[in-house]
Amino acid sequence: MAIQTIPTQPFAGQRPGTSGLRKKVAVFTQPRYLENFVQALFDVLHASGSEAQALNGQTLVLGGDGRFYNRTAVQIILKLAAANGVARVLLGRSGILSTPAVSAVIRRRQAFGGIVLSASHNPGGPEGDFGIKYNAGNGGPAKETLTEAVYARTQVVRELRISDAPDIDLDRLGLQQLEHMQVDVIDPVTDYAAVMRELFDFELLRGMFQRGFRVRVDAMNAVGGPYARAILESELGAPTGTVVHAEPLEDFGGLHPDPNPVNAEDLINHMQGLDAPDFGAAMDGDADRNMVLGRHFVVTPSDSLALMTAHARLIPGYQGGLLGVARSMPTSAAVDRVARALDLPCFETPTGWKFFGNLLDAGCVSLCGEESYGTGSSHVREKDGLWAILFWLNLQGATGKSVETLVREHWRVHGRNYYTRHDYEGIAVDAANALMTDVRAELPALPGRRFGSRQVVLADDFSYTDPVDGSVSGQQGIRLMFDDGARVIFRLSGTGTEGATLRLYLERYEADVAQQDQPVQQALAELAALAEQVAGIRGRTGMTGPTVAT
Ligand code: G1P
Ligand code: ZN
Repeated sequence: MAIQTIPTQPFAGQRPGTSGLRKKVAVFTQPRYLENFVQALFDVLHASGSEAQALNGQTLVLGGDGRFYNRTAVQIILKLAAANGVARVLLGRSGILSTPAVSAVIRRRQAFGGIVLSASHNPGGPEGDFGIKYNAGNGGPAKETLTEAVYARTQVVRELRISDAPDIDLDRLGLQQLEHMQVDVIDPVTDYAAVMRELFDFELLRGMFQRGFRVRVDAMNAVGGPYARAILESELGAPTGTVVHAEPLEDFGGLHPDPNPVNAEDLINHMQGLDAPDFGAAMDGDADRNMVLGRHFVVTPSDSLALMTAHARLIPGYQGGLLGVARSMPTSAAVDRVARALDLPCFETPTGWKFFGNLLDAGCVSLCGEESYGTGSSHVREKDGLWAILFWLNLQGATGKSVETLVREHWRVHGRNYYTRHDYEGIAVDAANALMTDVRAELPALPGRRFGSRQVVLADDFSYTDPVDGSVSGQQGIRLMFDDGARVIFRLSGTGTEGATLRLYLERYEADVAQQDQPVQQALAELAALAEQVAGIRGRTGMTGPTVAT
């Protein structure tokens, strides 16, 4: 066994996006592609005076969502870590850790940081995507200053330090040695389950299952399966089979592990049947996203955040009340109304969980959410799919009310924010950029302009100044706001690996209970037409409509 220094050449385009570096598997498996990125990360962590101490002698957490290339990537990263002065790696067994579990392990074990191998909800398998993301000592995604430094380093990296030791046994729990580094293979669920036990009323949940409360959780053949099984079935006594598609597969069994009404169609169908369970939910590839459903009833993520905020005191972990709440800019303003009613601070951040980190660390907020099926709290520094499922179960147990009743009552009290996101996927990068540039150029002329009964009151490109560290993030999405509270937002995705994806977010408020039961796309059709008028999406993309509307 020896530590080797081997020459390498930079690769172009290793800049992390909304959530880490994501590329096609064919890109990631090029010789030295992964190695370069990880070496660049370690170089930056060694050099960073700002991020506490350097990497030498530290503990890192490592694991991924089990997708194709996960096991190979783990072996490579271990050998780089051993050669770069890391003292100890806490590795999820078989290289498996969900994203929220990485966050939980970093925090509970006070590790220096962690590496998550995941491309989240993107498809997996040899033809699919792979990804890597660094999380800091708070358990949360690295800040932009760090990811930009890593990117800069990837452009000049010339040397890899790597051990030529044999592979370690990923499937055997306990300690193994790799050069001077200890590899501690840990059970992926233990730490995470301990956190859940501290937050939720497990006795109440056990009682619900004993009385026959029926749940269907679709893990979409991804990493959430083992967690949901261990907690819901083994610990809380839900019947075997409550968790379906529970075995993590390298290609997710061909499923697109994105929990939305389009990709989780099987779950939607089950929840609409005559014999539908009381509650349904799905998680994504790395188990940080969630979709929740009642019988014959789908909850939008924005409403989910608003309801959680409204009822948080019923949940043991939040019975003392919330410090505040935060949502990403495109997420509907439903939670803002609850925050106002409860007199809670409410923050609006750019898209991406990393922007919640400072607010959580500084004690400004307790709950956060995004429209993209992400909700979470201060218990970790990632969004958390199973946490959201347990929250909704606990809420139903504590109130004795169904999902549909809870949401309809909420609308009655606070009004309904009709909400949809239209994705135009796989459009030419140039066409997408031109659309954004042209709409941006129109912005100064828009305030005051009328579209039917609505008038534009604000038109800008969202810029965020972090209230904790003062950092500024510009060009985070173009928003048009109207005098009746409606909003139209244009944004380009930062997680795709092919072409560009335009996201169009539409929202309008409805206080009248008699008007709260329209089909969502119909209720927002006027705003969709307005967006088309402003941006000319069809003409520019040649598409007749969105590829996905959720
Ligand atoms: C998408 C979502 C965003 C989420 C991110 C990672 O990013 O829109 O809310 O944080 O995935 O799960 P986007 O592709 O829009 O940049
Ligand atoms: Zn995810």
